[in-house]
Amino acid sequence: MFGTIRPKDHSNKQIKFLLRQVLLPRIRPRVGLDLFAGRGEIASRFYLDFEELHCVEKNPKSFAFLQKRLGARLTLEARVPSPALPLIHLHRGDNLKFLADQVAGIRGINLADFDACGSPNPQIKQFFKSYRVTEPMLIFATDGGKLALLRGAAWHPDWYSAREPEGPPVARYHSLVARDYELLIRRFWQEMAVAYGFSIQAFQLCWKQERLLAYYGLYLEPA
Ligand SMILES: C[S@@+](CC[C@H](N)C(=O)[O-])C[C@H]1O[C@@H](n2cnc3c(N)ncnc32)[C@H](O)[C@@H]1O
Repeated sequence: MFGTIRPKDHSNKQIKFLLRQVLLPRIRPRVGLDLFAGRGEIASRFYLDFEELHCVEKNPKSFAFLQKRLGARLTLEARVPSPALPLIHLHRGDNLKFLADQVAGIRGINLADFDACGSPNPQIKQFFKSYRVTEPMLIFATDGGKLALLRGAAWHPDWYSAREPEGPPVARYHSLVARDYELLIRRFWQEMAVAYGFSIQAFQLCWKQERLLAYYGLYLEPA
């Protein structure tokens, strides 16, 4: 009866949006991958000026929402083909499978967005295994790996290294998880840059929820 009305906290979303707003002008929008597309909030705000956009989402309810949100453009495109409209592909299913099976066949990718719930690193690693950086590109990611680990989800220290994970994921303690998660993330990207032949020209990272949730964006160039 005397419930408190708490204003909804939209600041997580605002940080994600701001990161993209700040870094997107660094590239000419060409081919984008939104690998955790959800309900298309980010895609519909920021990626509709790409020439080609691939959105991947595995949850049927979110996918239906995504179809509704981006569907108007699909219908319009089918009726009035125009170079001004992006070619939008909506993929329902697991992004690891999409990355392994389809990404090598897509040319000219200059944006990959990994707005994950837990750690995005298995997907990031699969992306670079399938796609070589030959020109400047942007990466965006949400890393809630530490938060997920504290909630009992699977985790693997080798997700934070360019090497292949040894054994299946386990919620195994790693001293850097507790001490310095940011170092873990930055060290992962340094290893990836060496392993996959690119250089990191810009790295913007923001923290939320008492440093349990990281939002970041990188601008990469071929080494
Ligand atoms: C944080 S939400 C993304 C929100 C989205 N970027 C937006 O702008 O609306 C993460 C989404 O990733 C989806 N997801 C998680 N694991 C996935 C996977 N392996 N393959 C495809 N989608 C996945 C979830 O269903 C969820 O909708």
